[in-house]
Amino acid sequence: MTANKIISGFSKLTRSQKIQWLVEQLKLDETTASFLESFESINSESQMIIAGLSENQLSNFHLPFSVAPNFLVDGKLRIFPLVTEESSVVAALAKAAAFWAKRGGFHTQITGTEKKGQVHFCWNGNPDTLKNYFPEIKKQLLKEVAPHTKNMEKRGGGISDIQLNNLPEILPDYYQLDVSFETCDAMGANFINSCLEQFGKSLKTFMQKLDAEQEVEVIMAILSNFIPNSSVKVWVECPVAELDENPEKAAALAEKFVRAVHIAWNDVSRATTHNKGIFNGIDALAVATGNDYRAIEAGAHAFAARDGQYRSLSEAKLENGKFWFGMEIPLAVGVVGGVTALHPMAKLAMEILGQPSAKQLMTYLAVAGLASNWSAVSALVTTGIQRGHMKMHLGNILGNFKLSDEQKQAARLYFQDREVSYSEVEKYLNEHARF
Ligand code: MEV
Repeated sequence: MTANKIISGFSKLTRSQKIQWLVEQLKLDETTASFLESFESINSESQMIIAGLSENQLSNFHLPFSVAPNFLVDGKLRIFPLVTEESSVVAALAKAAAFWAKRGGFHTQITGTEKKGQVHFCWNGNPDTLKNYFPEIKKQLLKEVAPHTKNMEKRGGGISDIQLNNLPEILPDYYQLDVSFETCDAMGANFINSCLEQFGKSLKTFMQKLDAEQEVEVIMAILSNFIPNSSVKVWVECPVAELDENPEKAAALAEKFVRAVHIAWNDVSRATTHNKGIFNGIDALAVATGNDYRAIEAGAHAFAARDGQYRSLSEAKLENGKFWFGMEIPLAVGVVGGVTALHPMAKLAMEILGQPSAKQLMTYLAVAGLASNWSAVSALVTTGIQRGHMKMHLGNILGNFKLSDEQKQAARLYFQDREVSYSEVEKYLNEHARF
């Protein structure tokens, strides 16, 4: 590979010019263009939609689109569509779903759907002036934002509150408009940001009229991904004795599981990995349904640190012979507008889920998170994670070799009770498979 050159106007080149430039710059194989083309959808309409999702698109990046059946959520059976590159995640989710479907399933409760946004600004006039005029300012802001909120209000949403915060400890003369929104079935990012930008303009004009000497300087207007009041509670519970056919194993699993979660609650190193296991499930469902998994992760990680220490999102307890495992997690997702209603595979994912409302999708995401957390932690405190992981990983390792189906099957059989590693697989293949 050679160092590439700075190019201006790259985005204005056609797709094939971009590929040609890339091939020339990096001396890539001549077949790169046809390789990229081979990953495009044969359905030209779908391909156009996918290409339109990003700037400088050259092709599509495929990931497996999988399903995990048997999710009993609030008494209704659901099939979860999942997109992930990690081989053990879908197996883990399917296992947890089947396990808990026999024990009452997953229970959920939405605790709120309030979204947030802020206008950050500086003003070096008398703070009391702003405070005293704020009821009037608020009225004017709501009046001038009406063209943006009209449609959302028809759907039952809109702006629910505007607070003024004076925070000189962050910056001299610094204030925030802290705004609460209800966005119904939309994630609402564009709606919220448009309203906030309008607030910035209206505020500036209002204050200019009030005191021409002191200008409001809007630093930024943007939604917040910290949404502790848009959250779901999800939990599973059953008598300890029902955790395993063997009563001793059931008691040991329950007790060790609770201790493992307690460690994650108190230790940041473990909490981070523990929560990563939760996002294995949430992200897979969020990606499949075209939702912004970065927003979900950012909000939930901040929530995990809400008391000043980063903790596990989930908790577990034993009470009167009952095992309880659950969590509260903030989630902001949409089912109208955005990629969910556009991407052909996301549309299919929504159909598989039974066309859920945003609230229902919030509960499914929370369930996916708790399910993958259950599978990970229960494996960790019993067999260890590597057994299941490496079994799934075996498929990836075998994919590096040109093998017939029979050879792959023989290798799977051989490694059923053996340690899987790349070198062990290579050694086995050298000895047993002629290729
Ligand atoms: C791996 O993707 C996720 C786990 O590390 C989660 C955990 O440790 O709880 C297995």
